[in-house]
Amino acid sequence: MENFVNGDFIVFLSSLINLKASPPIISIISSAMPMHKHKVSVHLLSFQALVFFLSIFIHFSHCDVGTASHYGPPFLPTACYGKDASEFPSSNMFASAGEGIWDNGAACGRQYQVRCISAAAPRTCIPGQLIQIKIVDRAQSTVSRPSRDGTSMVLSTTAFQAIANASASLINIEFQQV
Ligand SMILES: *[C@@H]1O[C@H](CO)[C@@H](O)[C@H](O)[C@H]1NC(C)=O
Repeated sequence: MENFVNGDFIVFLSSLINLKASPPIISIISSAMPMHKHKVSVHLLSFQALVFFLSIFIHFSHCDVGTASHYGPPFLPTACYGKDASEFPSSNMFASAGEGIWDNGAACGRQYQVRCISAAAPRTCIPGQLIQIKIVDRAQSTVSRPSRDGTSMVLSTTAFQAIANASASLINIEFQQV
């Protein structure tokens, strides 16, 4: 058992129980482990196995936690599509990427599911609301300025008010690329 490196152990586990475990979960768990330690204690392996099995049973999915602000028109031009308005979803569910997810422009067109988890003022989040947005711009260079700088993403007013009280300038969010 001690000869397994961390990642191998997880892959071994998943093949052992013949699960179609999602590769992201395996890679998340693997990447969370120090790669330079090739010998790990049985205790640590047990803990990792526990996390792994728990993740299956509670349908754990990898979400990031961050913040969101909002912005209104004018939206053009954008850092992603210039003056091309046809890239905007007709639902108006879109957002600008903060630097953390901008990814040197690769974020353009990516879709995220976003939910509001908390805010400074109580009852700001609309309970149970999950939206899906498309990244169309870079937050730091949008034409109209966000309600708050430096957030993970800046939601269109339409998107923001679908999950939170629109009079808030900042909310805490959970988001996941889809
Ligand atoms: C939104 O927040 C404002 C300011 O806190 C408050 O006056 C208003 O009633 C809230 N709106 C809703 C729908 O809760």
